[in-house]
Amino acid sequence: MCSVVNFNINGYHYKLPVVYGTFYEKAINISQLRDSTGFITFDPGFKNTGITKSSISFIDGEKGELLYRGYPIEQIINKCSFIETSYLILNGELPNTAQLKSFSEKIKKFNHLHKEINKIFDHIPNFYHPMGILSSLTYILDTFINSLQKEDMYLHLLAKLPILAALIYRKKVGLPPPHVNPHLDYTSNLLEMFFSIPNKSYEQNPIITDALNKILILHADHEQNCSTTTVRLLGSADTGLFSSISAGMSALWGRLHGGANQAVIEMLEDILRSGGNIKKWIEKAKNKKDPFRLMGFGHRIYKNFDPRAKIAKKVAENMIQKLGISDPILELAKNLEKEALQDPYFVEKKLYPNIDFYSGIIYQAIGIPKYMFTVMFALGRLPGWMAHWKEMKNNKDPIGRPRQIYIGYKKRNIQK
Ligand code: ACO
Repeated sequence: MCSVVNFNINGYHYKLPVVYGTFYEKAINISQLRDSTGFITFDPGFKNTGITKSSISFIDGEKGELLYRGYPIEQIINKCSFIETSYLILNGELPNTAQLKSFSEKIKKFNHLHKEINKIFDHIPNFYHPMGILSSLTYILDTFINSLQKEDMYLHLLAKLPILAALIYRKKVGLPPPHVNPHLDYTSNLLEMFFSIPNKSYEQNPIITDALNKILILHADHEQNCSTTTVRLLGSADTGLFSSISAGMSALWGRLHGGANQAVIEMLEDILRSGGNIKKWIEKAKNKKDPFRLMGFGHRIYKNFDPRAKIAKKVAENMIQKLGISDPILELAKNLEKEALQDPYFVEKKLYPNIDFYSGIIYQAIGIPKYMFTVMFALGRLPGWMAHWKEMKNNKDPIGRPRQIYIGYKKRNIQK
């Protein structure tokens, strides 16, 4: 393994150090490049840029593998709950029984909102998109948290985000604010907060609880994606945790990122409504003059199957079969996937289904409407965002501030 790379620019010889990761992925450290050569690098979309050293999750895009703190996602999904996964992602190791109990109890301690938050929420028009409301309220939460203990910030967010999500959903469907049930585990409480009806006890369905646990785990972290990078970037400017997470939510909302889960179901419904001609829609996605893309397909890092999509598909099939639902959208999604994976365009460009392709089908089977899908993604991604913010602080990463190549006017004078 070389520790430096040698290169020539215009006849001058330079050396730059090389940085290696656990699996020997390699990067040229260009931090001194401009000082020594006068050049910067040009990499729109950061396609070839490593912004930090991280030990939270690892993706092998060529093999289609995902690890959380070294553990394969396939093992975590079968052996851990979402709250254990959150602990793992935040703290680096899986909790033992006592640690898990204490973590869960501490989260429950913060299971309430300040009454001012409820007052502010009452003034937010109901037609706003839930992601906009969630992001705004997360930002505002900071003001109403009295805890001075730094570590408690993470627990506050884990406790309060599900309440905000339930509050938003319930107002949309005309239900009163949610009630926290401290006797339930994290995911069961989330379901009860969403779906309980006044004067009627909510009956938990283990098929649904299990599916929700799994889909939250699948979203828990995904290294330097757009929203996580946003969170880190804000944190690097010494912006607080809540504001950084709020900005991450805004980034997640975009249709090319987490907003794709809503866009996938809307696309599948459109296909179904227009007669179900899959081939026509695939041609549309391939047509460069048409802005349409096959939503839920493609990924910056995965050039093989997204392992999360494989698991999500199984979870969707399994729950729909066990619940005895017939879902034409699931059948359509499977046929669309099959057709796309045989098409030379998708094969050559290595475009596979990503996590968002099947996640909406799971949410719908749980009873969560389309407009809440990206909120559910945010609940799942929360531990990852927090772990990256924490890691960035511990690493003492410098403020994120890229350069540019200016192509505007040369210096000129105002003519008047
Ligand atoms: N449908 C049709 N063509 C596609 C698709 C798609 N879904 N995705 C990529 N392509 C094509 C592009 O047009 C491009 O073609 P070209 O080389 O002929 O110009 C090529 O594949 C490479 O695509 P890029 O956009 O350059 O790839 P990038 O890594 O920048 O983008 C992204 C990745 C944004 C995910 C893209 O694949 C996409 O838009 N997918 C649809 C939206 C989506 O599902 N987003 C969720 C991603 S997962 C997540 O964030 C949770």
